[in-house]
Amino acid sequence: MNENILVTGGTGYIGSHTTVQLMEAGYDVVIIDNLSNSNVNVLDGIEAITGKRPAFFEGDCTDMKTLRRMFEQNPGIKGIINFAASKAVGESVHKPILYYRNNLGTLLNLLECMPEFGVKGIVFSSSCTVYGEPDNNPIDETAPIKPATSPYGNTKQISEEIIRDVITSGAPIKSILLRYFNPIGAHPSAKIGELPLGVPQNLVPYITQTAAGIRKELTVFGDDYNTPDGSCIRDFIDVNDLAKAHVIAMKRMLDSDDHDKLEVFNLGTGCGLSVLQLINAFESATGVKVPYKIGPRREGDIEKIWADPKKANEVLGWTAETPITDTMANAWRWQESLKN
Ligand code: WQD
Repeated sequence: MNENILVTGGTGYIGSHTTVQLMEAGYDVVIIDNLSNSNVNVLDGIEAITGKRPAFFEGDCTDMKTLRRMFEQNPGIKGIINFAASKAVGESVHKPILYYRNNLGTLLNLLECMPEFGVKGIVFSSSCTVYGEPDNNPIDETAPIKPATSPYGNTKQISEEIIRDVITSGAPIKSILLRYFNPIGAHPSAKIGELPLGVPQNLVPYITQTAAGIRKELTVFGDDYNTPDGSCIRDFIDVNDLAKAHVIAMKRMLDSDDHDKLEVFNLGTGCGLSVLQLINAFESATGVKVPYKIGPRREGDIEKIWADPKKANEVLGWTAETPITDTMANAWRWQESLKN
């Protein structure tokens, strides 16, 4: 029987792409999602790609009774990948209690259930936001954790500390923390992709919606930064490459006890790209112009951050390999598919 993996937030953007990769690697997947920021139709996309529908349990992980019922109805879960969290930096500044209750409550409930239901390990969806504004780039896992610049970023930092403390306490579990840089793009089949509700906060969905004529023009938040073209620099990583790293991490955690019980990996390409460079990459990949204007800086934005992915490359044997033009072409194909 295939190993059963729980994917919390599995109908979300990174969760759905990771579910596809897990299933294609031979795992059985159970998704729990409260559908607060995703659509149940994502399951159709996953099935169209893999030929199999993952088990789905609609529920909120912050409710312990619901979570226990999910584990009871889906016995034999060996590993968890925890994506379920609120993730809008700006929103978290205005709704801190919602973010702490949701993101920390979910994690605490999962950690409490793991020994009870024989779950061996948890892969945690962390973020480069834990580093704040780095002193130097590229940034590796030994870089200092700086005070968070938002409640969202703080929930990621606190979550990492909670996992560390639970493992130090002797709980019979393991964990791998994956610190993402900027996940972008969509599955090449255009059956799943990023589905922001309302006005997109993130850059790439705003680019594709502008290119599709849904938005009038993109605002580039500042071109007066200390960077070659004045716009911010990020490490944009293809979501399919990111998803593959989760499968490798899960296999490492479940198949061997030779590693530390807690490991941390930065997941990025190692290349910094500016906002303006990304717009150019989209236009050259698709031949579609993106009307934009330069606007004021966005509060809380980091000037430049990109990863040193050496540890993930060497220890996990994983490398982000999708060319940015392919990623942009996939994002555009997904946006176009939404018209149907
Ligand atoms: C990228 C750049 C903006 C929109 C986000 C999440 C963070 C993490 C990584 C999960 C910035 C600029 C954006 C627009 C713009 N996610 N921009 N116009 O803020 O780097 O990080 O993804 O862990 O939690 O916040 O991503 O896509 O919002 O912005 O100029 O309309 O694009 O100023 O420089 P960010 P983003």
